[in-house]
Amino acid sequence: MQNRLTVVILAAGLGTRMKSRKAKVLHRAGGKALVGHVVDTALALTTPDRVFVVVGHQADEVRRAVATPGVGFIEQKEQKGTGHAVMCGRDALAGLDGYLMILYGDCPLLRVETLERLIDTARRSEGAGVLMSAIMDDPYGYGRVMRNIHGRVDRVIEQKAGTPEELAVREANMGIYCYRADLFWKHVDEIQPNPAANEYYLTDMVEIFNRAGSSVEAMQIADPREALGINTRVELAEVDRLFRDRKLQELMLAGVTIEKPETVTIDGGVKIGMDTIVEPFAQIRGRTVIGENCRIGSCAIIEDSEIGDEVEIGAFTIVGTSIVERGAHAGPFARLRMENHVAEGANIGNFDELKKTRMGAGAKANHLAYLGDSQIGAKVNIGAGTITCNYDGFAKHPTRVGDGAFIGSNSTLVAPVEVGDGAYVGAGSVITTSVPADSLGLGRAHQVVKEDWAKKRRALHKKS
Ligand code: UD1
Ligand code: CA
Repeated sequence: MQNRLTVVILAAGLGTRMKSRKAKVLHRAGGKALVGHVVDTALALTTPDRVFVVVGHQADEVRRAVATPGVGFIEQKEQKGTGHAVMCGRDALAGLDGYLMILYGDCPLLRVETLERLIDTARRSEGAGVLMSAIMDDPYGYGRVMRNIHGRVDRVIEQKAGTPEELAVREANMGIYCYRADLFWKHVDEIQPNPAANEYYLTDMVEIFNRAGSSVEAMQIADPREALGINTRVELAEVDRLFRDRKLQELMLAGVTIEKPETVTIDGGVKIGMDTIVEPFAQIRGRTVIGENCRIGSCAIIEDSEIGDEVEIGAFTIVGTSIVERGAHAGPFARLRMENHVAEGANIGNFDELKKTRMGAGAKANHLAYLGDSQIGAKVNIGAGTITCNYDGFAKHPTRVGDGAFIGSNSTLVAPVEVGDGAYVGAGSVITTSVPADSLGLGRAHQVVKEDWAKKRRALHKKS
């Protein structure tokens, strides 16, 4: 029984000091909702038998933010304090044996190693369990850990309730606990609502356990910042920076060159291969994976995309939910809006926009094209100014250009339409019917030449 572990993450509060209509735990740092970090840490523990999140404010959004197999939810309809939040889980949790670990959804910096140490300490202890504490220079706002003359933990006193002598104690309660589940559920109902705040304080459990003859230990951590609970947007920005720095260091140590790293934003879930160079001000977000030996240009923004080896994404190029295969180029100033697939060695030039388009291997659209809902074959050349008219005001229609076709500059391909393999489209054409393979499609007015017209006109003006 002693090996099982239930983790409960409290995330029901609004977080008034964020000055936000959005629940605090939904705010993002390092590219992920705060509560998402805590859930991931809990899932990374070696024995997380079950992970539960207590939701209240914007419960549905919080559920969605952390919807992962293995995560359960407990609803706390009214926020009546940290003790009450755990009590709401009685039906789901009270039957579970082993240990109960309580974390907060707004403490995203906690490391797995620290929590493992907390669990070990609880398992070795003979009492009810352990709380996490730290010696702080300025513990203002935190509960203080009161010890008796033998150094044993007696109780925790909240900032609001403490006398000046009690508040002079610098050992602060980090609000993170690992208790024996059976003892916790046996005694949790002994928490009385706090007279001043009318809230059920989880911190009261320390005194309650002591009264029942079970001791509580305090495990000190060296750096209290690890347990920092985010309360304001200033702290949110600090924590965001910390996550970013951690990520950049990890990538640089793994062989990625990052120029002016202080300007670069890379989300925690991103993967980048060796010898890839990331230029200043690039942003690489979401679940993006980038191969080896690529160059990601200045101010490029890449989100949820898959980039192969040896790819060059030029400056100011925006790539969303797209696949770019080995050796392809995009940009500068290109936009791969969504769901594109650029095959090996293809080129998406400056001021191109692609949407739901497949560019075949070695195909080129070197400048100023819009390709939407299109299948472009291998080795196709798309001239400057070519656009697909994929929308008729009601529905989107597909365009298909066969392998080796040549689309002259400034062509308009009115979808649904097809240009066969090896066909040509003359520059400036409006193509409304399909062009068979190996033919020429011309759709433009015939040119008229009037010889000496200009000369005569000049002569006419001179006379008058
Ligand atoms: C708590 C501790 C304090 C500790 C500090 C560390 C208590 C009474 N005090 O104070 O000793 O030093 O954490 O950061 O526990 N929540 C709910 N439902 C509620 C109330 C809170 O889910 O009804 C959640 C919040 O969303 C938040 C977490 O619990 O994620 C902590 O609540 P908060 O009100 O910030 O506790 P503190 O006052 O900081
Ligand atoms: Ca807090």
